[in-house]
Amino acid sequence: MGGTFWLPRRGSTFAADVDFAWDLVFWISVFFFVLITSLLVWFVLRYRERPGYVAQPASSHNTPLEIFWSVVPTLIVAGLFWTGYKTYLDMATPPAGAYEIQVTGQKWNWLFTYPNGYVDGQLHVPEDTPVRLVMTSQDVMHAFFVPTFRVKRDVLPGRYTDLWFEAIEPGTHEVLCAEYCGTSHSTMLTKVVVHERADYERWLAEASDFLRLLPPAEAGQLLYAQRGCKQCHSVDGKAGIGPTLQGLFGHDQPLTGGGSVRVDENYIRESVLVPRAKIAAGYEAVMPSYQGRLRDEEIAAIVEYLKTLKGSP
Ligand code: CUA
Repeated sequence: MGGTFWLPRRGSTFAADVDFAWDLVFWISVFFFVLITSLLVWFVLRYRERPGYVAQPASSHNTPLEIFWSVVPTLIVAGLFWTGYKTYLDMATPPAGAYEIQVTGQKWNWLFTYPNGYVDGQLHVPEDTPVRLVMTSQDVMHAFFVPTFRVKRDVLPGRYTDLWFEAIEPGTHEVLCAEYCGTSHSTMLTKVVVHERADYERWLAEASDFLRLLPPAEAGQLLYAQRGCKQCHSVDGKAGIGPTLQGLFGHDQPLTGGGSVRVDENYIRESVLVPRAKIAAGYEAVMPSYQGRLRDEEIAAIVEYLKTLKGSP
């Protein structure tokens, strides 16, 4: 399902209907643009002022012609409305029994919570299955946008919005944030991975079991990449929205408002759960709390990962 010059490839069952509506509007516009512009140019040349010409009074109106140019555009516009409205209703009505995944938008990443409680930074779905996303935001307005699925919906703090789609074949697709949400809006990206149906449950079981399957430091690295730490904290010494994590563990961290703190297990735990408690000097208090969103063993794994990041902060 390759894309065209105008539209990206088609990844969902909606795509063909959305593209049909778009093509219809496009080609009707092209037709009238060419018709009107050609007549305009032709009339300008044909009826230009010539020497000795005396203007004639205009003839009175032409009823059949006026009815024709009122009725035909009305029918065209009503047809366009119907084409769009039909697809809109489909898109606005998730089928009963759709597979549900919770989506959280936050500055500046996406989190996906699967029915078994597992949280991932990428959206994994089975093919040929209606999937309903129940979405909310931790902070400001975001918008969940998958161009190849032709779906986009605002994600708001303090309320739920939903969206559904059915992916038509295995593959990966880009997810964008389509609402300007601050400094790193343009990097608020992730992927949808569409699995073969038979593979999906196996993927979910294996992914959910990472704390048991991986050594703590590696599990911590995975959490760092998937839960949104990476967007603001580098591991190579570069300052970002937040301090780098390189060499952070065990070092004395100066704090906003004076004083400093030795970075140990307790400071990291506190900073994850109550980020505003002690702000590193030179940074703003913008980190969202992970209270209730990271379990104790997950925080312990992150601490183990931080211990491996040697160097000077
Ligand atoms: Cu989130 Cu833009």
